[in-house]
Amino acid sequence: MRPKIICHMVSSIDGRLLADRWTPPASGIDPDIVPRHYAQVGTRLEADGLMVGSRTMAEFRGITRGEPHLALGAQPRSLPHVANKTEPRVAVVFDRKGRLDYSVDHADGDHIVAVLGHHVEARYLARLRAKGISYLFAGEDGNDLDAALRTLASVFGVRTLLLEGGARLNGAFLQAGLIDQMSLLVYPGIDGLAGMPSIFEYQGEASTRPAEGQVLRHLATKTLDGGMVWIRYAVEEDALPAVV
Ligand SMILES: NC(=O)c1ccc[n+]([C@@H]2O[C@H](COP(=O)([O-])OP(=O)(O)OC[C@H]3O[C@@H](n4cnc5c(N)ncnc54)[C@H](OP(=O)(O)O)[C@@H]3O)[C@@H](O)[C@H]2O)c1
Repeated sequence: MRPKIICHMVSSIDGRLLADRWTPPASGIDPDIVPRHYAQVGTRLEADGLMVGSRTMAEFRGITRGEPHLALGAQPRSLPHVANKTEPRVAVVFDRKGRLDYSVDHADGDHIVAVLGHHVEARYLARLRAKGISYLFAGEDGNDLDAALRTLASVFGVRTLLLEGGARLNGAFLQAGLIDQMSLLVYPGIDGLAGMPSIFEYQGEASTRPAEGQVLRHLATKTLDGGMVWIRYAVEEDALPAVV
């Protein structure tokens, strides 16, 4: 069994990802409307933790993203490591090449679990163990998301996880058909520039359709204070796949 995955994101009205580029709140609206609603709604979703890509994780205090730590010719590693976990929730980071360096063992109070590829250096793994960081493996190249989720359920006991971006990791989960629900906050602001990332950015050929075979069923819409709109959808299999 894998955990239930709710992709929880906030976007501008043009579906863009980078909050520091959006127009500011209108006069009289709480200037912290974006982080406040994002955190409060995240809590209401009652998950066992969150999952992020390595670029998003590097925005947490005490975590930096650098060069990969790979030993390609070496004996591949696959045994998960469970550090002394005192925090109730997990912060799972998909860091297939072992790029992240940690001066902390938690991300805003959540226990860090790094998801790696088999060829990450032994010395890098030893550093993670010394820092109190848990890790597990997602296949040879670190891209087997389904395997990672099953290990998270069986070894860490998680049942529901929030997928909190960024766009590249969301895109990989979308393409793998591993998102069960969407929780989207639409902030009343605009980015407006062509080419800025949206909340899904699967890295593939132009002919690829990462959401193919999936449809959205509306569950609920709520307007929050400041004009933020919270929309929830279930992601279902398309009952009528396209005829080729
Ligand atoms: N609006 C929101 O709700 C929201 C939420 C979260 C983040 N953000 C913003 O999003 C931005 C970062 O997003 P991002 O898309 O650039 O980065 P990201 O998704 O956070 O991280 C992407 C990186 O994760 C690594 N990775 C590991 N496994 C992967 C896999 N299976 N598929 C894809 N990547 C994988 C890759 O690095 P390697 O190739 O080195 O392995 C990849 O470059 C930040 O500016 C952040 O502030 C916004």
